[in-house]
Formats: sequence, C-alpha cells, structure tokens
Amino acid sequence: MTQIPDITLNNGVTIPQLGFGTFQVAEDDTQRIVESAIETGYRHIDTAAGYYNEAGVGAAVRASGLAREDVFVTTKLRNGNQGYEEALAAFEASRAALDIDYVDLYLIHWPVPSKGLYIETWRAFEKLLADGAVRAIGVSNFLPEHLEKLLAETDVVPAVNQIEVHPTFQQSELVRVSREAGIAVEAYSPLGRGADLESDEVTTIAQAHGVTPAQVVLRWHLQQDTIVIPKSNNPERIAANLDVFGFELSTDEIAQIDALEAGNRTGADPATADFTQMR
Ligand code: A2P
Repeated sequence: MTQIPDITLNNGVTIPQLGFGTFQVAEDDTQRIVESAIETGYRHIDTAAGYYNEAGVGAAVRASGLAREDVFVTTKLRNGNQGYEEALAAFEASRAALDIDYVDLYLIHWPVPSKGLYIETWRAFEKLLADGAVRAIGVSNFLPEHLEKLLAETDVVPAVNQIEVHPTFQQSELVRVSREAGIAVEAYSPLGRGADLESDEVTTIAQAHGVTPAQVVLRWHLQQDTIVIPKSNNPERIAANLDVFGFELSTDEIAQIDALEAGNRTGADPATADFTQMR
C-alpha cells in the first residue's frame, strides 16, 4: 500500500501529507465514498460541520476496522457558531455527529472579520486542546492580518492554515507568512476545481512523466511541503490522486507551474465572506 509521508505540525502531532477532502460530498454518499477512500489507502479525512457530512465520515472511520489512531480526522467550526460558548457547544455537536472520542485537527472555518469573534473563538479552541478533545487546532481562510491579530492576542500558534491554493491561485505571500509563523499550509481546491488541469504546461509535463495532469499538480503541492486534500466522487480518480509517490518533478517543471499564477480564486474571499451557511 502507498506510503504517504507525514508532516510534523508545530505541536509535534503528525498529519498524513495527502488526505481526502469531502467538501460537496453529499450526505447520503459520504460513508460509502469515505470507506472506499480509506480502503484505497487514504488515512486522513477532511470534513466540516458546514459540509453536513460529518456523520458519514465518522461512520466510515468506524466501519473501516482501523484503529482510531490510524485515521487522521479534521473538522471545522461553522461561521455561525463563532464565540466562546458557541464554539464549545458546536464542537460537542461535531463530536457527536462524528461519533468519535477525539478530533485530530479542529479548524476555524473562516475568520469572518465583520463579526470580530475569531479571538474569543480561538480561546475555546485552546481549551479544547488543553482538555485533550482535539490533538491540534488551526484556522482556515485566515489572511495575514487575521493571523497577525491571532498571534498577537492569543497563546497557541495555529498548527495549520487551510487555504485555497492551486497553480493559478498560489497565495505565495500568505503561504510565506503562515510558514514563517510555524503554521503548516494545507491546500484546498488543490486542483483548482479541475480548471488548472487543462493548462498546456501541466498537460505537457504530465505526458513527459506518463501521468495525469491531476497527478502533476498534486506532486507540485507535495514537493513544496504543502498538505493537500484532493476530493473526488469517482473511484478511479480517488485512487489516481493517491498514486503520486512514484515520480518527481524537476526544479524546472516546478518553476513552469509556478509561472501559471493568474489570481484565479475559485472560492470566497476571506476578507469579506460572512455567510453562515456553507452548503
Ligand atoms: P470528480 O469528483 O468527478 O472526480 P478541487 O479539489 O480542486 O476543488 O477539485 C475537485 C474537482 O476536481 C472535482 O470536481 C473532481 O471531480 C475533480 N477531480 C478530482 N480528481 C481529479 C482527477 N484526478 N482528474 C480530474 N479531475 C479530478
């Protein structure tokens, strides 16, 4: 079975560098798809309260027959549940939906700066960490100004910042600022929701290695120490996205992909996103 490298987070917890994303995986399909991902070899599953599929993820982890400590589970706090008491209650709801004893990584899903609650939310996350309910805490969609405020006003440095990163939207400055603070970068929409896979450069590199464009883009992430969570509903693509440890991109090929930056954000802008529902 594929050996997925671990990344060591700033509190010593290790996370498999490649995981399975479940954004937009329908509630009713989640258990089946996640079970098949685990069967294929994934050992890190990423969900969120806002995806409405935590129950299926937890059921799949339990049905896998693997020891709990052999699967890394991330979930996220919904925007509407920010605030100290609200976050603690929402965590318990997520834990109940997942029906697992502890969560490996708990993330604030969006900073929602207009609400001004992410500092007190983080205090609740610090308590969950101290209580052992979660093994690591982090953020998602935090821009440099949100990280700066969090680092200045709270005690625990986030273990992870999960952000949109793909060849046509690399957020290099945010990646640099996060890493400089000791925060690991996790890429969501790592394939640019499919769109980046059609570029001539990526296609040519894929042909040279006898692999698919998606495998090239995943390699590009992995070779830069980024944690990556591709998602797919399709069993062949679920397997192919894990089969990325048998080839290596050259420095020149990495540079060619770096040159594809085009400011092509596909998700919401964290500076203004204040939605409370995330279906
Ligand atoms: P599908 O579920 O039909 O495989 P992102 O994670 O960047 O948002 O992109 C996810 C999208 O990319 C999904 O629509 C998924 O579709 C598609 N996708 C996932 N893996 C691959 C792959 N290996 N090749 C092509 N498309 C892929």
